[in-house]
Amino acid sequence: MRLLIMPDPHSATRFAANEIASLMIERPNPVLGLATGRTMEGVYRDLCGMHREEGLDFSTTTSFNLDEYVGLSAADPCSYHHYMNALLFSHVNSRPDAIHLPAGDAPDLDAECIAYEESIRASGGIDLQLLGIGDTGHIGFNEPPSPFDSRTRCVTLNQKTRIQNAAMFGGNPDAVPTRALTMGVGTILEARQLLLLALGQSKAAIIAKALEGPVGPQVSASAIRLHTQCTVILDEESASALS
Ligand code: F6R
Repeated sequence: MRLLIMPDPHSATRFAANEIASLMIERPNPVLGLATGRTMEGVYRDLCGMHREEGLDFSTTTSFNLDEYVGLSAADPCSYHHYMNALLFSHVNSRPDAIHLPAGDAPDLDAECIAYEESIRASGGIDLQLLGIGDTGHIGFNEPPSPFDSRTRCVTLNQKTRIQNAAMFGGNPDAVPTRALTMGVGTILEARQLLLLALGQSKAAIIAKALEGPVGPQVSASAIRLHTQCTVILDEESASALS
């Protein structure tokens, strides 16, 4: 595992955006695994800037997002579809047919999860998977305990996660959907490269658990330590509880 501790959040998001951009430039048809949440806002801002100012080309990139809330349509302003359009896709030259998020409003959620896995496989697999970390130690929405061989599936969100994400729902945790579709830990570990980013003091304790505690399903993010091509980018605050 490569661990980088950057002096501030902006240098950390910039580093992550540069890693993604380098892969997009080096590989002919890159496949990105994308994440949402507050941590990623700076990464997408930087990638949009690189597209605008340096011509970073998204037209050959395929992307798969980690997760989506159950019951929300792509048009819902609280959905991750909406987040991705607002922060990235509407500002760059992505091909609409190369953008993938699980459909949280699919009539058959199990069939949707199977089809999502199949479409990742058909794309040749994910080259680089971007990851954040939740208060429960989740990556994607893999709440504890999530088996390390879990696949894309429907999960029940931990109450801590609903509290963590309440801001997008008018500050009311009860308005956060109770379920989500998420890539599994096993799906994530199959990406050829992982890039986990965490920012701020609120992530310090869970980062220390994930990187220095026992590796196991009680902290999904600890699974990244089993991956041979894994980079963790922290700012000084999120790194502050590491020994
Ligand atoms: C979102 C996702 C989650 C978030 C995590 C951190 O697609 O996969 O694992 O990365 O909940 O969220 P923030 O960045 O809002 O603290």
